[in-house]
Amino acid sequence: MTFCEYRPGLEGIPATQSSISFVDGHNGILEYRGINIEDLAKHSTFLETAYLLIWGGLPTQDELAEFEHEIRFHRRLKYRIRDMMKCFPESGHPMDALQACAAALGLFYSRRALDNPVYIRDAVVRLLAKIPTMVAAFQLMRKGNDPIQPRDDLDYAGNFLYMLTEREPDPLAAHIFDICLLLHAEHTINASTFSAMVTASTLTDPYGVIASAVGTLAGPLHGGANEEVIWMLEEIGSVDNVEPYLESCMQRKAKIMGFGHRVYKVKDPRATILQQLAEQLFEKFGQDEYYDIALALEKAVAERLGHKGIYPNVDFYSGLVYRKLGIPTDLFTPVFAIARTAGWLAHWKEQLNENRIFRPTQIYTGSRNAPYVPIEKRH
Ligand code: SDX
Repeated sequence: MTFCEYRPGLEGIPATQSSISFVDGHNGILEYRGINIEDLAKHSTFLETAYLLIWGGLPTQDELAEFEHEIRFHRRLKYRIRDMMKCFPESGHPMDALQACAAALGLFYSRRALDNPVYIRDAVVRLLAKIPTMVAAFQLMRKGNDPIQPRDDLDYAGNFLYMLTEREPDPLAAHIFDICLLLHAEHTINASTFSAMVTASTLTDPYGVIASAVGTLAGPLHGGANEEVIWMLEEIGSVDNVEPYLESCMQRKAKIMGFGHRVYKVKDPRATILQQLAEQLFEKFGQDEYYDIALALEKAVAERLGHKGIYPNVDFYSGLVYRKLGIPTDLFTPVFAIARTAGWLAHWKEQLNENRIFRPTQIYTGSRNAPYVPIEKRH
């Protein structure tokens, strides 16, 4: 066996072989199963893309219709899950609520028949179907309202916006939200996907796999950055304050949220599309008060940190889109989780095909053969 050097954060170290997605970080290219993200954003839908990612190819009309039908059929939550959610504190973060609910699904469907394609299909469908309902239900319940039932006449994106806002979804808003989901669906071996794969490699159930990934996505260095971006833009407050804010971050060596990426050294292609989507929404519904600040910040960061390859990532403009769609700021990361469930499930399935438990090694830096000192002799 050969040993390679220790790289913090496993930078540059392949952890798996995968045919699900491809990133060229120097040219800003992202492909799902070989298809460019821009083409998918123009022509596909989130559920068709989820199918592509999970089952490995674009579905025929019949296959897509069946997949969509199955998902519609499984959108409702068991009353016991809703009862469990009633006990959650309304001040708790929705990502914690989502992680608990995803794990709780395992209480109902825990039979681990990982070699049975029907079990795999059911788990895929249930998770894709129920996670949006859980996010919307938590939002209504923390406001003291009863969750509303999903509507079978609405598509995946439109139904989520309806369950969240209790209003008929605007067609443009629903279409744009669907593209947002598609853009967030998958991104090679990012931290939460790696977490999902490590968990999957123990052959635990898929609900535990997704719960583990949700917990990883929540952090501000990963999916949690989309929420942080809005708090940052609020703190900056005006275009005039962009330079002083950036200067202060650089002096404190603080990270600017929504910028930088382990793989991309240019602007993330998803950020470019999300910015265009934000502008489409602004045209119809009016501009966001933070957009000019965001543009000024992007320019200032490029001038000062562009030489290090620090440009907007997927989390920089997504929040401005979500705000226009009426999604509360602390639901931005759960929305990311709704979308990324497709990618997590694709990697779960791929992992099962050629599984070996993840068990890396470490470089031990502690002492050896240390004496046990009795408590009365310790100081
Ligand atoms: C996502 O991996 C994925 O694919 C993730 C994702 C997905 O779809 O799954 O794309 C989603 O998680 C997007 C990233 C969201 N996070 C943020 O926006 C938080 C802010 N960004 C970072 O903290 C940072 O850029 C990371 C976490 C995204 C990447 O971290 P790395 O690869 O470990 O890089 P690093 O922190 O070691 O930084 C390298 C250099 C440092 O400078 P030097 O010490 O070498 O001089 O770049 C600088 C950093 O200081 N740097 C930044 C910066 N990001 C990196 N400087 C200021 N602001 C930043 N945001």
